[in-house]
Amino acid sequence: MRDHLKFIAGFLRRPRAVGAVAPSSERLAREVLRHSNLGGASTVVELGAGTGAITRKILDRVQPGARVIVVELDELHAGLLRERFPRVRVCHDSAEHLRAILRRHGCRRADVIVSGLPWASMPRPLRERIKSEVIASLEPDGRLCGFGYVHAAWHPKIRAFHEGLRSNFSRVRVSPVVWGNLPPAFAYDLAGPC
Ligand SMILES: C[S@@+](CC[C@H](N)C(=O)[O-])C[C@H]1O[C@@H](n2cnc3c(N)ncnc32)[C@H](O)[C@@H]1O
Repeated sequence: MRDHLKFIAGFLRRPRAVGAVAPSSERLAREVLRHSNLGGASTVVELGAGTGAITRKILDRVQPGARVIVVELDELHAGLLRERFPRVRVCHDSAEHLRAILRRHGCRRADVIVSGLPWASMPRPLRERIKSEVIASLEPDGRLCGFGYVHAAWHPKIRAFHEGLRSNFSRVRVSPVVWGNLPPAFAYDLAGPC
């Protein structure tokens, strides 16, 4: 409940940036990471970690020596993530600066990027900038995992964005809808950026 209240407070501060009224459910977090092969990753980045619903699951799966970087735009959420997950490198920054963030942490590319970003509520230019940063920041055999909300997926602009995103990867997987999530959502796993 405490996380739900913190999340709603974040939504009230920046409704478009947060894009949801509740953190991802356990079930959705599991679907997002199902094919992510985190155990074999040396650098993992999470974009838009919120209160850490997916971060927790990432940490359960990575090797002890793996570098885990989280990028979160909301200052209070970033502070909470730092307190909660001392092992994680938390950057209070925007995902649109991903390449610079990686350089600051002594690396050029990530094996896995996990997105919690609300693509549908972002202005298009920002969405496109972040997409380019993500593709340029992945290893050649890297993968992007994330989720989308069902209610937004049918909007023509978001369909076009998803199609564009898929065309940048050689392998695409989409999960069944997780109806118990608030709001209902599906997970995607995109591998082999091209
Ligand atoms: C839908 S919430 C998801 C939170 C969490 N990953 C989860 O699944 O519960 C979106 C999160 O992305 C963050 N966010 C939005 N735009 C961002 C950006 N440009 N860079 C980094 N974080 C961003 C918001 O502050 C919010 O915490």
